[in-house]
Amino acid sequence: MAGAADVLAAWFRDCYGAHPELIWRAPGRVNLIGEHTDYNDGLVLPFAIGRGVLAAASARDDGVLDMRSRQMPGEVVAIGADELEPGSVSGWAGYPAGAAWALASAGYRAGGANVAVDSDLPIGAGLASSAALCCAVVSCLAALSGSGSGPGRRLPGLARIAELARSAEADFVGMPCGIMDQDAAMLCKQGRALLLDCQTGDFSLVPLDPAAADLSMLVADTGVRHALADGQYAARRAECQAAARLLGVRSLRAVRDPAGLAGLPDELLRRARHVVTENARVVQVAELLSAGRLADCGELLTASHVSLRDDFEVSWPAADTAVDAALSAGALGARMTGAGFGGSVLVLAPTERAGAIEAAIGAALGAAATFLVVQPGPGAHQAWPA
Ligand code: GLA
Repeated sequence: MAGAADVLAAWFRDCYGAHPELIWRAPGRVNLIGEHTDYNDGLVLPFAIGRGVLAAASARDDGVLDMRSRQMPGEVVAIGADELEPGSVSGWAGYPAGAAWALASAGYRAGGANVAVDSDLPIGAGLASSAALCCAVVSCLAALSGSGSGPGRRLPGLARIAELARSAEADFVGMPCGIMDQDAAMLCKQGRALLLDCQTGDFSLVPLDPAAADLSMLVADTGVRHALADGQYAARRAECQAAARLLGVRSLRAVRDPAGLAGLPDELLRRARHVVTENARVVQVAELLSAGRLADCGELLTASHVSLRDDFEVSWPAADTAVDAALSAGALGARMTGAGFGGSVLVLAPTERAGAIEAAIGAALGAAATFLVVQPGPGAHQAWPA
């Protein structure tokens, strides 16, 4: 059976008359813990999952960027590479266009190209599909631009690609995201979670092997969708900045003890308290994982959900229902994952209870809910030629 990269290579040939020069794959992620902390210079602990985005590309010498997606058959978006500017491309193609724009804006050689993408990641499910798309396309176009010879040819490293992909999303598409999703896509490794300090960029890879502990990580997609760029994410970010300003600190990372938040107006205090307590929970979970104690992380995951629900107010009713149903059916812990306002819930469960928990969440949410069992998978890599 042909692999996903072979399928995309064949489709690319059908579209453009020749195989691509190369294909990169970037994974989606589940954030184990550390939500809404990245843009506060905080700590996050995501892991890559087995689903992701493939981007195929070949160079063109007429300066045109031609973009196609297997999920949008028949749709062709083409624009001159030197006409790219924020607002010039909307819809799904804004992400690959933003990737080309970010590379060129940072001084990398990025001319015309044919780009075709394919994905098995659900969109808007809180699994960072847009970051995976941008990371796959930046990786691909960067490799293309570096494939020739010549003086001064330089290729961006993985963390630099993550920054460029973030710029594509934040500066071109207009979603003011942090760096977690892109770093997860680029830096994660199989069997590991990524402990990332978003203030310094320092990271380490922490062992995460649920099967070895007879545990399962179940992702319940609640089916509720929310367009991130519509302002609530930006509003939370602004609230955190306002709290930091009132406290006289550069970012909320500077506050280690919730007692230090006294005096803030109630709503800002609750937002900031989530960030401060969430950073502490990330440290605790990372320590437990390093000690091989995944089963003991459950309560911290649930505490994260409660904090996101009550203090940060980014949860949504179906997520709260799913978390409650999971815990009643024997889960060790459960929390919403991603930005919130829609998407998925992560459940940590004894494997023997996983089926009953899935049934309980399904009964509580109805037909809209879908399920994935996830394992920590590899980060971005060239997928073709193999
Ligand atoms: C989205 C953003 C990330 C991060 C999360 C919340 O996924 O892209 O940068 O802020 O929300 O933790």
